[in-house]
Amino acid sequence: ISLKSYNTFGIDVKARFFVEITGLAQLQKVLELTAYPKRFIISGGSNMLLTKDIDALVMHIALKGISIAEENGETVEIKAMAGENWHNLVMWSLDRGYGGLENLSLIPGNVGTAPIQNIGAYGVELKDIFVSCTAMDVETGELVAFDKENCEFGYRDSIFKNGAKDKYIITSVNLRLTKKDHVLHTGYGAIEEELKNNGIVYPTIRDISNAVIAIRQSKLPDPKELGNSGSFFKNPVISKKKFDKFIKSHPKAPFYELDDDQYKIPAGWLIEQSGFKGKRFGDAGVHEKQALVLVNYGNATGKEILQLAENIQKEVQKNFGINIHPEVNIIK
Ligand code: EPU
Repeated sequence: ISLKSYNTFGIDVKARFFVEITGLAQLQKVLELTAYPKRFIISGGSNMLLTKDIDALVMHIALKGISIAEENGETVEIKAMAGENWHNLVMWSLDRGYGGLENLSLIPGNVGTAPIQNIGAYGVELKDIFVSCTAMDVETGELVAFDKENCEFGYRDSIFKNGAKDKYIITSVNLRLTKKDHVLHTGYGAIEEELKNNGIVYPTIRDISNAVIAIRQSKLPDPKELGNSGSFFKNPVISKKKFDKFIKSHPKAPFYELDDDQYKIPAGWLIEQSGFKGKRFGDAGVHEKQALVLVNYGNATGKEILQLAENIQKEVQKNFGINIHPEVNIIK
């Protein structure tokens, strides 16, 4: 079957075998099927670039359900199954007046993939509200709990991209949200501006969500309309020594100081300055409003997108001496 509708880039590759996983017992059974030694897990398909047919048993994780694990007067711990759509979970929590997910509105993908890359936007990362997740060991079929520390979260990073890669299938995620005294994150410039434009002085969590939605819609393409995987590259982090040299020759460049010795430069700026913003090569392109996002205008192959990404990396390296690395998982 074609995987085009299972990845947000809309890449048309085929799966040799395909199974929809809707229950934990079924997942265990499927992992025992020795006739299919090669497996490939797909969830929201929002953080991968498929460059060839998948000669394996593709397991589409469609585990559903959101419930309350624990609550008191101030906070609530919710448990969401891996196959729930992330944005639907954010809306579910706001409908109940729970705070914590509002800055993470409209991020494509499913709950189960959120911990893998520690999704983040507008001053909040998953790790800020994360309690634990449950994952199935693909060898033994056993369910294992990972608390926050075990997950080794970093910027767009976790143990599931490193030591635990391909060893587990995340089945559910527990998050701690606030029922009152919400901690609001409005410091991100674009959010402040959006609230101000709407005359909002004392924002609610819903106001912040609406602001984030408006900002994202104004510069990030909707995967339903234009295939993409969000930021294709991570923002590079460079040393002070390198930064001093860089900023001397590019005094107008935006940057964030992480600590005394580390600086993060927006890859979108480096790519735009290298002349790629809005450029199109066949059906592969660089988004016109956010250079960090690569897009599929319809029938681009994964190889074409990858070729474009490599050209961008080369040009950025040539122009700035800075290496940028994909955030998206490239399946070669
Ligand atoms: N910029 C440009 N040109 C561009 C894009 C950005 O010059 O084409 C400059 C902007 O002017 C601004 C700076 O880069 O000064 C930062 O831009 P923006 O606020 O759009 O954020 P970003 O660093 O490009 C990151 C995340 C996004 C997240 C936003 C908001 C990464 C790799 N990306 O983007 O995450 O939504 O911050 O928090 O960290 C994603 O991971 O898929 C994603 C969309």
